[in-house]
Amino acid sequence: MDDLLQYRDKRVVVTGAASGMGACTASLLVDLGAEVHGLDVRPSVEGVATSHVCDLGDPAAIDATVAAIGGRVDSLFNCAGLPTTAPGQQIVRVNFLGHRHLTEALLPSMPAGSSVGFISSAAGMGWQGNFELLRGLLEADGFEAGSRWCEEHDDVVSANGYGFSKEAINGYVAWRGFQLASTVRVNSIMPGPTDTPMMPSFVEMMGEDFFERFPKPVGRNSVPEEQAWSIVMLNSPRSSYTAATNVFTDGGFSGGLFTGSIDFAALMPE
Ligand SMILES: NC(=O)c1ccc[n+]([C@@H]2O[C@H](COP(=O)([O-])OP(=O)(O)OC[C@H]3O[C@@H](n4cnc5c(N)ncnc54)[C@H](O)[C@@H]3O)[C@@H](O)[C@H]2O)c1
Repeated sequence: MDDLLQYRDKRVVVTGAASGMGACTASLLVDLGAEVHGLDVRPSVEGVATSHVCDLGDPAAIDATVAAIGGRVDSLFNCAGLPTTAPGQQIVRVNFLGHRHLTEALLPSMPAGSSVGFISSAAGMGWQGNFELLRGLLEADGFEAGSRWCEEHDDVVSANGYGFSKEAINGYVAWRGFQLASTVRVNSIMPGPTDTPMMPSFVEMMGEDFFERFPKPVGRNSVPEEQAWSIVMLNSPRSSYTAATNVFTDGGFSGGLFTGSIDFAALMPE
């Protein structure tokens, strides 16, 4: 079958296109025949149609990038992210508020049948239990209102900025994805440990012992290509009935956790 995933001649935007999973995603999409527009604080991987150096923590820079890309956008891949070692407020600003701002700014350019995919994380898997709190952030309309909400909830945001940013993404995917489902599909993947340049920051935060004991049902960490293929398949028109969903791409970890085969409390450092 020709053009199996139906990306040929599609205009797509990929954040985090300079490194790791985002760079792999951008390269796969180039190979699949898409016109790829990369966005990152660094120049995007070779082969993209345009590379936009843009800080997702700066809404004016995002607006300028959206204007520079211009025209129709068929698919958005929100892959960028700051790691656990950055300050909590900054992580939520980039990982959630910046990506939300970009998504909402591009939506008017996205025709029916388009898709938005986020790279969230297994670290955001507890979002449903936190939804009443998250709803306040989701309803804080726009970047500045969202920033104010985060400052007013600094205890939560600074305590676990990375996990909270991923819970916010998952909540947004379900809440906004439900509203948009008849026109634009919004979904996320939730990777487990993946060997990218970000991985050492997780080890620094949690300790080597934690990752040595961390259960790996598949038998190893994932590699960026595996996560890139997952989000490319999720955003493909072939996944047309998958909407407002957060998909685990964690090599079986969540299955073990949800069935009591993995005792997460026993894993945590003292
Ligand atoms: N590596 C893992 O184990 C793992 C696990 C689960 C989820 N994730 C998520 O996967 C995504 C991709 O990360 P990765 O592991 O490929 O790491 P990476 O560090 O290789 O890539 C992250 C990219 O985001 C870009 N970025 C950072 N701050 C930015 C900003 N303010 N504006 C624009 N771009 C910015 C970086 O320049 C980099 O190119 C992230 O959202 C991360 O949270 C990673």
